Amino acid sequence: MRFLPRLLLAAALATAVLLVCRLLLGRRGGCFPDDLAPRAEEFPSLTLDTFLHVQQLRKKRLRAFCSRLAKAPTLPESSEERARMLSSVRVSTKLDFLYCQVPATGMEGWQWLLEKLEEKENMTVLMPLPYPRQHALQTQLSKFNQTMIEAMMGSYTKILFVRDPFQRLISAYMQGMGSSPSFSSFVQDVLDRGQYNASLESKPLVSLCWPCLIQYDYVMMFGFLRQELSHLLHRTGLPKDIHLPEFTDTQVRWTYMWLSEQLFSELSLKQKKQLSHFYRWDLSAFQFSNSLLSDLLSTPET
Ligand SMILES: *[C@@H]1O[C@H](CO)[C@@H](O)[C@H](O)[C@H]1NC(C)=O
Ligand SMILES: *[C@@H]1O[C@H](CO)[C@@H](O)[C@H](O)[C@H]1NC(C)=O
Ligand SMILES: *[C@@H]1O[C@H](CO)[C@@H](O)[C@H](O)[C@H]1NC(C)=O
Repeated sequence: MRFLPRLLLAAALATAVLLVCRLLLGRRGGCFPDDLAPRAEEFPSLTLDTFLHVQQLRKKRLRAFCSRLAKAPTLPESSEERARMLSSVRVSTKLDFLYCQVPATGMEGWQWLLEKLEEKENMTVLMPLPYPRQHALQTQLSKFNQTMIEAMMGSYTKILFVRDPFQRLISAYMQGMGSSPSFSSFVQDVLDRGQYNASLESKPLVSLCWPCLIQYDYVMMFGFLRQELSHLLHRTGLPKDIHLPEFTDTQVRWTYMWLSEQLFSELSLKQKKQLSHFYRWDLSAFQFSNSLLSDLLSTPET
């Protein structure tokens, strides 16, 4: 891949710039101007109150989005349709968690954490449930029958990990999904395949995680995971002594912002507009501040 060496160099440069700015200028966000600087929610002193407030704001935006839908999604009667619809939704029946498995959103660390907790035999979350407790490990929600799915959706702690769709695309491109010679042809490929045939990496979150069907309790944003997750653990009654995996999303976020601008400029205006349209649901359901795609959203498609 011709592009890769350039990309690695770019990533190294961005990291170096960030470090220099941090060391010399003492600025947490690096050399970025103030409007790009991290918000209060990013600082390590994120309090529980702030965390809960941010959660309320994210869920409020999501509810507003859902209420604008002409037709709210419902759970299909047929188990094949349910399997197709819910293929990314997983549950830990031992710990009573439901989460959406989308690559490159930071949920991998969370999944790892659940696996570790499930291995602890005497670890249970004490919560009265309206059905017999299952002792299978993490599995797909759609493996269960409709009654069970509804009960799980009603009683489990439900967590959604979200990330700017354009950054998800870049991540997929860097991992060599498809073998496109350039980012622009990679994007064209995604656009040509369309929503329905989109791969897991490029499909909009809204049609993978169904946030208007599943009322997620927590919406976790890539870039803020480490601090947010420690509050989440406390809130959900998981043991306080567990070791959080290393989340590098805060650092990665700045590199990606830089990369986004580079790669975005390689796209034609038509592609940019089509991409914004492709991800319009995600962009209105979630607040991705600084997403390059949001700016084009109001422009009518040509
Ligand atoms: C869990 O079990 C292990 C041994 O199986 C024991 O050492 C540990 O104290 C137990 N933890 C709790 C919280 O009961
Ligand atoms: C759904 O599954 C549960 C647990 O396996 C079972 O007890 C229940 O009878 C099933 N319900 C239906 C309607 O099949
Ligand atoms: C999805 O892909 C299949 C096979 O490549 C194609 O026949 C079908 O028309 C595509 N569906 C849509 C909605 O584009």
